Amino acid sequence: MKQGLTRRESFLRCAALGSLRVVPGLGLLEAVSALEAHERNGSRKPTQWNEIGPFYKRLAPGNAQLRRPGDAGMPTTISGRVFDTRGEALAGAKIEIWQADDAGLYDLEGYRYRANLPADSSGKYSFDSVMPGHYPARVCQHIHYLVTTPGHKPLITQLYFATDPVFEGDPDRNYSRDPLVMSRELVRPVTLFGEPRAVHAKVDFDVVLERL
Ligand SMILES: [Fe+2]
Repeated sequence: MKQGLTRRESFLRCAALGSLRVVPGLGLLEAVSALEAHERNGSRKPTQWNEIGPFYKRLAPGNAQLRRPGDAGMPTTISGRVFDTRGEALAGAKIEIWQADDAGLYDLEGYRYRANLPADSSGKYSFDSVMPGHYPARVCQHIHYLVTTPGHKPLITQLYFATDPVFEGDPDRNYSRDPLVMSRELVRPVTLFGEPRAVHAKVDFDVVLERL
């Protein structure tokens, strides 16, 4: 094999010569991209920083069930994993989140819609909440994150939703309508699921921390 082939070229040559087979119906380029992604395991980009804002409170409870029966707002489950930039899961990382309720209000007296959750042994976290409301000081719906674990830079960021009406269905083009949304990557797709009378939203948000 000549020197200097990229991994992709090498995989494609393998496919052409028969040493890599892809079943009919699975596109060759897609399959090779998946293979490349696995080989790259370890080169995750750190999650983009975003403002902490004025409403953070320390010592939030560890309860992942933020939504109570009867709460207004679209029931929304957020889940994801915490990684380092090499793609290693960060078990036990501390994920602090805080958000406005459906009416756009933060609980400043207590801890509604605030949580402090540990990532499990595979770096996973999850919480059950509602879609945050809009509030006058901000353009977009968002959930605040502070993620910490020993040996890594603390990550302060915010999660945004591709369904936010502010984006008018096109976050690629419109994400900067909120001047605080400096990265398209923080705007995540929303999946709807459940029964017609009990539709829930689901959002995945993995975060990647840099080592100190
Ligand atoms: Fe906020």
